Amino acid sequence: MNIIKVEDYEEMGLLAAEYVSKKIQDKPEMTLGLATGSTPKSTYKHLIEAQKKGTSFKHITTFNLDEYVGLKLNDPNSYHFYMNEFFFRHIDIPRENTHLPNGHSRNIGQECEEYDKKIKGHTIDLQILGIGANGHIGFNEPGTSFESNTHVVKLADSTRKANARFFSSLEEVPTHAITMGIASIMSSKEILLLVSGEAKSEALERLLSVEELNESFPASILKSHPHVTIIADKEALMGTG
Ligand code: F6R
Repeated sequence: MNIIKVEDYEEMGLLAAEYVSKKIQDKPEMTLGLATGSTPKSTYKHLIEAQKKGTSFKHITTFNLDEYVGLKLNDPNSYHFYMNEFFFRHIDIPRENTHLPNGHSRNIGQECEEYDKKIKGHTIDLQILGIGANGHIGFNEPGTSFESNTHVVKLADSTRKANARFFSSLEEVPTHAITMGIASIMSSKEILLLVSGEAKSEALERLLSVEELNESFPASILKSHPHVTIIADKEALMGTG
């Protein structure tokens, strides 16, 4: 794992955007895996800026990691809404090239199968990841099988509490989500993990020091991936000495 240390959240976003732009320039028709949440917002902001300086998203294909179950696609807390608001509507990507699981599908099981098929029809060249304080990647909570493909998860209480900041109350935070599985994430050619802030320092320290892969700490699987780059800021790295 290659670690790039940066000063703060903003620099993390700038560097991550430069990293992704370079990959797109090298392979304009690449497939990019995307994350949501607070962590990648500054990356999307800088990628939008990169387009003004010549990066084109016209030929890329994207797959998002996850989506809440039960929210309408236009719900301001859905990840469909998030991606549109913070990234897609500002760039030249054809909408049909963007993929997110539909958490509002009537048949969630079938939705998972179909999403999985779509992912398997591509190879994700670069997957952007955040990490949960409990070590989740995507919404693969502790205990998820490393062999998992796209599936429905019951969100951990700690994840619902952490994400309640986006909702009016904890009760409104969905209890379930669809997530790309760990096997799907691991099949990406390359992974870019972004980590910012003190709240992630324990998880990052654990990831960097863990020696055995353990399903109770999902991110530990990243140790066995051949090409992982971590961009982490000072606060996230404070536990690592
Ligand atoms: C989001 C995702 C999650 C987040 C993680 C961290 O698509 O897959 O794993 O990356 O929960 O969330 P933030 O960035 O909000 O701290």
